[in-house]
Amino acid sequence: MKKVITYGTYDLLHYGHIRLLERAKALGDYLIVAVTSDDYDKSRGKINVKQSLIERVEAVRKTGLADEIIVEEYEGQKIDDIKKFDIDIFTVGSDWKGVFDYLSEYCEVVYLDRTEGISSSELRKSEYLINLGIVGDSSFLNRIEKEAKFVNGIVLSGICTNKCEKMSNAILKLPLVTDNYKTLLEHSDAVYIHSIPEEHYVQIKQALQMGKHVLCESPIAMSMVEWEELQKIAKQNNCILMDALRTAYSTAFCRLLLLAKTGKIGKVLSVDATCTSLRKIDKNQLSKSWNSISAWGPTALLPIFQLFGTEYKIKQIVSNFIDSNQTFDSFTKISFVYQNSVASLKVGMGLKSEGELIISGTKGYIYVPSPWWKTDYFEIRYENPSENKRYFYQLDGEGIRLELVTFAKSISSGKNLSSIDQEVSKAICKILEDFKNCEDMIII
Ligand code: CTP
Repeated sequence: MKKVITYGTYDLLHYGHIRLLERAKALGDYLIVAVTSDDYDKSRGKINVKQSLIERVEAVRKTGLADEIIVEEYEGQKIDDIKKFDIDIFTVGSDWKGVFDYLSEYCEVVYLDRTEGISSSELRKSEYLINLGIVGDSSFLNRIEKEAKFVNGIVLSGICTNKCEKMSNAILKLPLVTDNYKTLLEHSDAVYIHSIPEEHYVQIKQALQMGKHVLCESPIAMSMVEWEELQKIAKQNNCILMDALRTAYSTAFCRLLLLAKTGKIGKVLSVDATCTSLRKIDKNQLSKSWNSISAWGPTALLPIFQLFGTEYKIKQIVSNFIDSNQTFDSFTKISFVYQNSVASLKVGMGLKSEGELIISGTKGYIYVPSPWWKTDYFEIRYENPSENKRYFYQLDGEGIRLELVTFAKSISSGKNLSSIDQEVSKAICKILEDFKNCEDMIII
């Protein structure tokens, strides 16, 4: 019996796939189809896949062409499979020509002509196109422009900014470059806002009132009242309102939280997060800058609130300001006491420290090296070092790419799929509000 194997994602199964499977089957007597797992696709940078593994396997099964379906979970698996299943022919479409020649050591390799004019990527694009406007004066928007290119379903409609000189050529070539926010909104279905936090409330409100979806850099508002009001308008107008906090979309970060929650380090008693970036601070522009707490606070609060929740018993804020009006904190340290645990964070734009995250438990601790907020790696460490474990997860685009994918999926499904719970989003605003009102604060 001649055994044939082929591999693919098979998202939104189309006739290009079916033609390939028919020809693969005709090469032998028994066809094994390996469908890529969601994690494996993510790790090889394929992040836009619409259907889950189960749905994709089911679609392949329904073609009736596969004698057996398996899941492809790791790089290098093809060699293992060929040996394990005693394969005679490995085949894929001609878009992969040359890539799998190394397998000819184990079996015959056949590249079948790819069907012209159709692909899953094209189908995903044509499903629903979101015109996304970007807003703000920071060069960070250049990164958003770059990452948006990887996301099916999003096209940039334009930018609203007062600082064209900070923007890349690619941004300046967008269909609309304006300093008029209303004009941008009129030309967009959704906006990504990266202005200073004090401007968020007004900008979000205007967008939501015009029926536009919003992804806004956290904190989305500077008070609980504003936060509640914005959520209400979003609901009334069927709009998605999401915090932009890219660390929440880093696979390594998500996995370490899960491991902590499943008891890998015993009972978690303490979380300590530090985020700093030493910058030259323009003393004439203090009110127009992101201070330490607004630039880094939401990120540093994320592991604390996601692990321990938002019902802390006591908090204390200690800040050092560079101006007597207390506009710009050069650094801030916040300590939380929960019923059964404690947490602390240190953020600074005028202070340098080790940007690490440590989650301590009764059996061991999770260590994430600097800069933990964009890490692809962490370790679980125990008293006996031989039990230590290291974890790597591919991180594409600092989490921005997956954040945009989630925003697009939320809009097309009409369901907020954010990785940041509403209560966490709100609790972040509360900290910013308390900071502004100097509540529970000691100034040094
Ligand atoms: N394939 C094909 N003709 C097409 C599309 C895909 O022969 N028009 C083949 C691929 O070469 C591969 C298999 O079908 O052997 C599964 O491909 P997959 O990557 O899942 O499909 P694509 O449509 O290429 O997906 P994407 O656009 O996400 O790359």
